[in-house]
Amino acid sequence: MISHEPILWNDSFLTGIDRIDEQHKVLVNTLNEANARLATNITRELLEQITRDLLSYAIYHFETEESLMQEYDYVSLSAADADKHRQEHRSFSQQVVALREGLRDDRLVTREELLSFLNNWLVNHILQTDLLLGKFLASLGYPTRA
Ligand SMILES: [Fe+2]
Repeated sequence: MISHEPILWNDSFLTGIDRIDEQHKVLVNTLNEANARLATNITRELLEQITRDLLSYAIYHFETEESLMQEYDYVSLSAADADKHRQEHRSFSQQVVALREGLRDDRLVTREELLSFLNNWLVNHILQTDLLLGKFLASLGYPTRA
């Protein structure tokens, strides 16, 4: 995948958990919209706005997943996976926060840098880490669509 191309949603992204899948679609749309907006001119204001909106939705989404992990006891039944999963969420948030701090000091990122980080992170996280959580929830009888 060329990193600054839009992410094309496909069924391999489906975890089977409706609530998670709907939020992932929002995240994919958010990144694709950011991509389109950054195609014209990149200003600090635009980067601040995009990363702020993205971070706030990502945090809301991570909370959804992490409360499901708690509710279904993923944290003790599959402790290593749960740990890794939460670590990936933290690391994402920290990287976006660091990037936003850089913006304040006029260290702007390029569209290519920003989108390659965001797109790769999201796609890898969904395909590896979130699908694992989906399988776990399905194995406990969580109602899935798949
Ligand atoms: Fe996740």
